[in-house]
This record gives sequence, C-alpha cells and structure tokens, in this order.
Amino acid sequence: MTSTTTIPAHHIEITRPDDWHLHLRDGDALKAVAAHSAAQFGRAMIMPNLRPPVVTTGQAVEYRQRILAALPATSEFVPLMTLYLTDHTPPDEIRRARESGIVFGVKLYPAGATTHSDAGVTDLAKCMKTLEAMQHHGLPLLMHGEVTDPAVDIFDREAVFIDRVLRPLRKSLPALKIVFEHITTKEAVQYVKEAEGETGATITAHHLLFNRNALFTGGLCPHYYCLPVLKREENRQALVKAAISGNPRFFAGTDSAPHARGLKENACGCAGCYTALHAVELYAKVFDDNQALPNLEAFLSLNGAAFHGLPHNSGKITLARQDWHIPEALPFGEESVVPLMAGETLPWRKV
Ligand code: NCD
Ligand code: ZN
Repeated sequence: MTSTTTIPAHHIEITRPDDWHLHLRDGDALKAVAAHSAAQFGRAMIMPNLRPPVVTTGQAVEYRQRILAALPATSEFVPLMTLYLTDHTPPDEIRRARESGIVFGVKLYPAGATTHSDAGVTDLAKCMKTLEAMQHHGLPLLMHGEVTDPAVDIFDREAVFIDRVLRPLRKSLPALKIVFEHITTKEAVQYVKEAEGETGATITAHHLLFNRNALFTGGLCPHYYCLPVLKREENRQALVKAAISGNPRFFAGTDSAPHARGLKENACGCAGCYTALHAVELYAKVFDDNQALPNLEAFLSLNGAAFHGLPHNSGKITLARQDWHIPEALPFGEESVVPLMAGETLPWRKV
C-alpha cells in the first residue's frame, strides 16, 4: 500500500493523477472542456466515440493534434489515444497503432450500447483476428461491458455481459489485456478481483457517490443519467470497497461525458455526466467519507499507470479541505454544460 503524504491535516499531496476514461469531444466542445481535465490530470485515455469515430491510427494522430491545440499553451497534459473497434478493424491497424506510440488502447462499444456506438461491434466473433493482434502487440481492450439485447433489463446488462461475453473472451484470449470500464455492479467487482489474466477496471466518481435514487430524487434528474446507468446502493457500496481497497486492479476513469444542457434537459436526454471540472475533488470526497484518504493516491495516480506499463506522473497536486461551490453551468461552445452536483458544495478543492 502506498501512503499519501499528509502535510497539515487539512491538506493532502498526491502524485498528479491520470484519468483512464475521458470524453473530450471535438471542435468548440473540445476547446471548452480540455483545460478542465488538463488542470487536474497528467494524462487521460481519450475515448474515440466522435462522429465519425476514430477508427484508424491516422485519425488518432490528427485528433491528438486537435486536442493539443485546444490546451492552454503551458499545459503538459498528455492525451493517450484509443481506436474505436468495429466489425471491420483489420489486424494490421493494431500493428500500426502500436508502432505509432500514441495509441494506448482499443475501445469496444457493443453496437447500440451507448452514445455514438452505432458503428461499434455487432459480434465479437467478427473481431477475433484483430483481438489476437491486440493480444500479440500488448494493446489493451477497453470494454464498455454491457449487452445490448433489449430483452435484458437495463439494470442487468453489465452482469449479463460478464457471463455472455467476457468469460468466453477471456477463455479464448488468456493473455489479452482487458480493462472493464466504468464498472457499476458488485458482479463486476467480483469478476475483476478474481479474473485470470491481466484484468483491470475503471470506476467513475459518480458511480462511487450516487445510486439510482439520484435519477429520481424530487423528479426526473437528467444530469445523473449516464451509461452504464447508476445502480442500487449495494452495488455502489461494492464499488467503494473496491476503489478504496488499494487493489491495483481498480483505478480512476471519470467517464466525464459532456453534453450541451439542451440535449440533457430534453424529452430524450443524452447519457453522460460532466465531471472533468472537479473529478479529483469528487473522488477525494468518496475516500474521505470512507476514512480511506491514505489510498486515494493509489487509485488516482498509481494503479492505472502500473496496469498500462507506464511510469506514474512526476508532478504532485495538493488538495485542501476547503468548501467549493460547484457552478450551476459552464460555457460549452455556444451552449452550456451542467457539471455533476451543480449548485452543491464539495468539501475539497485542488490548490
Ligand atoms: C458517453 C458519451 O456521452 O460519450 N456517455 C456516458 O453516459 N458515459 C458514452 C459512454 O462512455 O458510454
Ligand atoms: Zn465513456
């Protein structure tokens, strides 16, 4: 277990963290949100679900340049790029991705599972050669782990995915590096703890802080709607236990997924919570609420880097126990975006 350096009791200093699952979007939206992540994190795994998706190494190189151009001039933030796996991704693309040195994972979106996933995989059997190439080149599979079968209740789609997709996949590719992303259930926690092979999981701040009641408290609350959807309290508790345990298989991935306010507060609201502004403080609240601040650094700054075979960041950040009133909305191109816990107060703030 790594210990967090405690300066005075109301300050904590940790190695600069990384975000292992982030949506930065493109164009004006990218320009609006990139600085938030860069202020908190050293690196982030950048999700490829643009329209059109980032399916080739060439597209990833170009997207990376747009991200770097959107950052403040002094920023040292490093975007770790990913490719969007389709039924037709050729094995050779995996070699190109690996050789590029800028692609760090390949993202599986089961077709129809979430925002901009229609170009995703309809059947993993169609991707076996490409998955074998990933295993060969050591490029991790980053998995949105939900079945899309409409006959399966939306609250059960992650647990069903483990048996229907993940266990068979692990059997056929024992050496593939797999990240089970944004896990939301006790079944996923259990799976990741026991899985054979190199298996990790990211956990978001919102799934650690809220259960599904948040969606319906005082009315329908679209800013708490994300995919995978928030689950029952017993699941939230299992996630917290995993995150604070120090187990190196669990690490932070915010899944910060900005949508314009008008597309959230809508008859058919988009899925995604915006947490890039205050992710570190949200995680700190979880660890603090559970008397686990000494393990915050492992979860935020060490475990993910170790899983991906990267050194941890060299810089440090300091958090102060200080009230922070979260703004009601933030600029988002011509629109605005509503951060998670808008209008509420967090007990920590990065200084
Ligand atoms: C993400 C998005 O908006 O891109 N939405 C979400 O609810 N998390 C897609 C995703 O990661 O599932
Ligand atoms: Zn996501």
